[in-house]
Amino acid sequence: MSEGSRIPGFYKLSLAARRDVVASRVGLAQEELELALEHGGLDAATADKVVENVLGIYGLPFGVALNVCVNGVDRLVPMVVEEPSVIAAASNAARMVRESGGFRAEIAESLMIGQVQITEVAEPSAAVARLEAAAERLLEAAAQAVPNLIARKGGPRAIEVRDLGQGCVVLHVLVDCQDAMGANLVNTIAEALGPLVAQIAQGRLGLRILSNLCDRRRVRVTCRVRAADLVNAPRSTNGASWPPPSHPSASEGSRVIDAIVAASRFAELDPYRAATHNKGIMNGIDAVVLATGNDFRAVEAGAHAYAARSGRYEPLAVWRRDGEDLTGELELPLALGIVGGTLRVHPTARLALKLLAVSSADELAMVAASAGLASNLSALRALATEGIQRGHMSLHARSVAIAAGALGEEVELVAAAICALNLISVEAAARALNELRDAPR
Ligand code: MEV
Repeated sequence: MSEGSRIPGFYKLSLAARRDVVASRVGLAQEELELALEHGGLDAATADKVVENVLGIYGLPFGVALNVCVNGVDRLVPMVVEEPSVIAAASNAARMVRESGGFRAEIAESLMIGQVQITEVAEPSAAVARLEAAAERLLEAAAQAVPNLIARKGGPRAIEVRDLGQGCVVLHVLVDCQDAMGANLVNTIAEALGPLVAQIAQGRLGLRILSNLCDRRRVRVTCRVRAADLVNAPRSTNGASWPPPSHPSASEGSRVIDAIVAASRFAELDPYRAATHNKGIMNGIDAVVLATGNDFRAVEAGAHAYAARSGRYEPLAVWRRDGEDLTGELELPLALGIVGGTLRVHPTARLALKLLAVSSADELAMVAASAGLASNLSALRALATEGIQRGHMSLHARSVAIAAGALGEEVELVAAAICALNLISVEAAARALNELRDAPR
């Protein structure tokens, strides 16, 4: 296992030093990294060409999660997120997991679904049979609509037909989109097939659009953590506070496993808890999705629809005890791209892909899912032990210090002062800032 994503003490470095270390780790010129991150990567004039009625740019923090190892390959994982502790939490959990070999990930299937809806079908079962019999012809017509995808060795792979009742028949075309997220490709195919499908079904043409419940494009990730590693690593919020506890006992680790398994069972029993459990997973996944310029609304829609596929909303990841180890497993639909879309215009998204050094959309999905499982582990470990607020608030203290007007080095000093007082408020930060500025030097 390489050590490429281990950078001890990274969080203590200055911003410039962190950029320096990361640029040299990934073999990038420092200027390239600086340029891609300047003003969030996008200028207003370019943004004006991307969406409508543009007034400007909205910035979010861009960081990297460390320690992540997926299928034996170390990855620096770019994350864009506004919530303090998410990146530290993912890094902490990834550190525990790497002690047992890192995340194991696989792509269960890699097909997007395009839907063509036909209504007012007089004889639905006969229409279904005719459409199924015409599969080859439909696949040929679909392929003709996306010659560039065919040239890249992707394309339509199968036709499935469902009778939804009330004279409504829906045809699914399953498409291998290769390294694209695939929304445009699939929509092009669905629109191209529409009239032919309506003619064969002898009904009225309805909607032609991809399904964001892309349950034929799924990623599965598993991990294992030894009891001792659960207590040796730093603990807290989403898992994020630093100094490690002094001498944890093996039985303490075993108790943490039981508590995490119980937290998993809670999510399995209760949709109210499952939603929050899954939110913790999406903390990690969305941050990678955003950093890489992918469609987070599509990912969110797919994840939650998949979580409810049994008719009951369930956790996307579950945790179990295996002897003195904790094991976790996450599976969800994840349609990501490394070509096309916003990526083409967004220098920071392109930088994110360079940091990740992934060579396919499938690899990106496996890393993003690993970040999701890491985030879930950190959150459950914190919740199942001391709760999340102490660690969360200590990281939140920096934002509070900034809100009170702290600048540069003052930020850490003010944050430390209000943490020591256990008073994380803008008023307390303002008082600490005044004292700091009034103090003789
Ligand atoms: C907060 O962003 C995420 C958590 O609520 C997740 C969870 O409860 O599992 C801590």
